[in-house]
Amino acid sequence: MEGLWDLSGIGHLGELEKKVSACCSCGLREGCRAVVFGEGNPAARIVLCGEGPGADEDRLGRPFVGKAGQLLDRILGVCGFNRFEHVYILNTVKCRPPGNRIPSEEERKACRPNLDAQLRIISPPIMVLLGATALQEVIDPGGRITRDRGRWVERNGVFIMPTYHPAALLRNPALKADAWKDFKQVVYKYREIVNADHYSPHC
Ligand code: URA
Repeated sequence: MEGLWDLSGIGHLGELEKKVSACCSCGLREGCRAVVFGEGNPAARIVLCGEGPGADEDRLGRPFVGKAGQLLDRILGVCGFNRFEHVYILNTVKCRPPGNRIPSEEERKACRPNLDAQLRIISPPIMVLLGATALQEVIDPGGRITRDRGRWVERNGVFIMPTYHPAALLRNPALKADAWKDFKQVVYKYREIVNADHYSPHC
């Protein structure tokens, strides 16, 4: 990418984080406390992508640390994964939209170079999209999570699984059965292409 916000020369996640912490490409930075870059293992083979930081994430500068994040950690646990070893967690936008509204298309577009640079550096073979915003940003602007979840999409050699956002599972626990089916597929794919011996307590 050319221009003022050129991240193409950056090959290290720490260096990218420094640069992204100074990003003011959209108005969100003015209204938030922290730039929530992401966390996890930079060498992880699975990237989880959410929508954008909420209040807890903004306060602590870390992704998925509120109630939805705690549920996500439990889901990862039953898959035999944890956030510091097996995955890297990030969001479509790095700054909290006021009042936790959905980030606008313009805001997502402004933040897209940051997301693209993260994905280029981590280069995961498996990606999990948590909720409609991530689905629409990464795969299909017209995507619908109820329709598109649970089916792999392959893009440039990356296997991408859309599933429900953990916050949706908290609002509607009846969706958990489908989310579990989706995460089981992630475990099976991980065994297939990353580690055949991966242990999960439940599948
Ligand atoms: N919801 C998201 O989409 N991302 C977070 O980091 C936290 C909650």
